[in-house]
Amino acid sequence: MNYSIKPSTEKDIPFLWEMLHQSIFVSEGQPAPSLDILKEPNIEKYLINWGKENDHALVAIDKENNAVGAVWIRLLDQDNAGYGFVDENTPELGMAIKNQYRGKGIGKNLLFNMIQFAHSIGYPAISLSVDPLNQNALRLYEKSGFIKIYEDAGGSWIMKRDL
Ligand SMILES: CC(C)(COP(=O)(O)OP(=O)(O)OC[C@H]1O[C@@H](n2cnc3c(N)ncnc32)[C@H](O)[C@@H]1OP(=O)(O)O)[C@@H](O)C(=O)NCCC(=O)NCCS
Repeated sequence: MNYSIKPSTEKDIPFLWEMLHQSIFVSEGQPAPSLDILKEPNIEKYLINWGKENDHALVAIDKENNAVGAVWIRLLDQDNAGYGFVDENTPELGMAIKNQYRGKGIGKNLLFNMIQFAHSIGYPAISLSVDPLNQNALRLYEKSGFIKIYEDAGGSWIMKRDL
C-alpha cells in the first residue's frame, strides 16, 4: 500500500481521538466501548489539550491524504500516571491503525519511526500498557523490542522499550 508518515498537526487531533478510541481493547465478540469512554479521566489524559511541548504524534496518510493510522507519545506525571506509567522521564505510547488498513506493516513502520524520533529527542525509553489478549499489538511490541516490566491488577502488561 502507498502511504507516507508525517508529524501530526492540529488538524489531526480529531483523528488521534478516533485512534485512542480504537486502541481501547475489547475481547473478541464484545461491542466497542461507547465514545463517552473518551471523556473518562483515565482515558482522556492521553490526549486532552494535545499539542504541549512533550506531546508528539506521527500519522500515516494514504495517497489521497487521508489519515489511516497514528502513534503518539505523551509524558505524564506520577500523580497523573497512565496505565503504562513507569517513571516521569518515560513517555507513554498509544497507537492504532484504522481497521481496514491493519496487517499491512503500517503499525510496525509507525512504531519504528516513533522509536527513532523519541531516541533523537533524548528520551531514555518509551512505555505502554497492553492487554496480553491483544495478540497483534503484543506481537508488534515484542518484535519492536518492548519488554514486559510488570502486570497490573487488571492483567494488562506494562512494557518498556529502552532507546
Ligand atoms: C496493533 C496494531 C496497531 C498493529 O498495527 P498493524 O499495522 O496492524 O500491524 P503490522 O501490519 O505493522 O504488523 C506488525 C506485527 O504485528 C503482528 N500483526 C499485526 N496484524 C496482524 C494480523 N492481522 N495477524 C497476525 N499478526 C499481525 C505481526 O506480528 C506483525 O509482525 P510481522 O510483520 O513481522 O509478521 C493494529 O492492529 C491496531 O490498530 N489494533 C487495534 C488498536 C490497538 O490494539 N492498539 C494498541 C493498543 S495497546
